[in-house]
Amino acid sequence: MNLDLTGKRAIVCGSTQGIGKATALELALMGANITLIARNETSLKEVLSELDTTLRQSHDYIVADFSNPNDLKEKVENYVLKKGIVNIVVNNTGGPNGGEIINAKTEEFTDTFTRHLLCNHILSQAVVEGMKSSGYGRIINVISTSVKQPIKGLGVSNTIRAAVANWSKTLSIELAPFGITVNNVLPGATLTQRLTTILESKSIKAGITLEESKKKMMEEIPAQRFAEPFEVANAIAFLASPAAAYITGINIPVDGGRTGCL
Ligand SMILES: NC(=O)c1ccc[n+]([C@@H]2O[C@H](COP(=O)([O-])OP(=O)(O)OC[C@H]3O[C@@H](n4cnc5c(N)ncnc54)[C@H](OP(=O)(O)O)[C@@H]3O)[C@@H](O)[C@H]2O)c1
Repeated sequence: MNLDLTGKRAIVCGSTQGIGKATALELALMGANITLIARNETSLKEVLSELDTTLRQSHDYIVADFSNPNDLKEKVENYVLKKGIVNIVVNNTGGPNGGEIINAKTEEFTDTFTRHLLCNHILSQAVVEGMKSSGYGRIINVISTSVKQPIKGLGVSNTIRAAVANWSKTLSIELAPFGITVNNVLPGATLTQRLTTILESKSIKAGITLEESKKKMMEEIPAQRFAEPFEVANAIAFLASPAAAYITGINIPVDGGRTGCL
């Protein structure tokens, strides 16, 4: 199976921690040149120093806030003009706040739509011509199992993730003739800062300890444990590889069997 990414450049968003960081580390091990994107420059430099360079890869980073899509667009377009072809984009950023949908403010929908859908779109538009000319493109969106089964208490997230999934499916059909695949990875409960925040808020709401909150969540997972970030990264890395050339327009849950539908 060909998992070699030597000579390919990958932009990995939201890569200072969690799933994004694990993905950047994995793609570098597979030989790719990595461009990290996130807001915190100190953390970006730390992750940059951890990326594998055995194959003389050249890694770098862009500081950008997905709440400011015009700034992201300018930075990424300038980056592509300077650096040339980007073969892989992993669209990933911080998750939306939780809460019941009936209580959501309209700005929560527009802000989340901007950070998730519009930024994915801007990044994809910026790199698509290079992908077409090289005949190798992988757009991978980290979203959520809520596209298959809405998750209680994540109203805004459920709504916007569905929009991202449909954007992605549409794009996959348009770009398939050019050797570009577009897929979604749907993490289940994964041991990152995001999960800790969700568990803390659940325990406060239910008046139970953090440990009880973890136990309750774990009971819903057939594998009876949370995922490590690298386990989600492995699925992303496979989709980014030459081996996954004929897989496009799909959703892959990495959730220990939690999602109750096919
Ligand atoms: N962990 C889970 O259990 C789980 C389950 C289902 C879905 N997901 C989804 O998977 C995605 C990644 O999750 P995670 O757990 O790895 O999250 P995380 O640990 O919170 O990491 C989020 C990453 O995104 C960056 N980021 C956050 N806001 C940003 C912004 N406005 N602009 C640019 N970068 C930003 C952060 O870096 P900076 O702070 O440096 O910007 C960080 O590197 C999220 O969409 C999350 O909702 C996670």
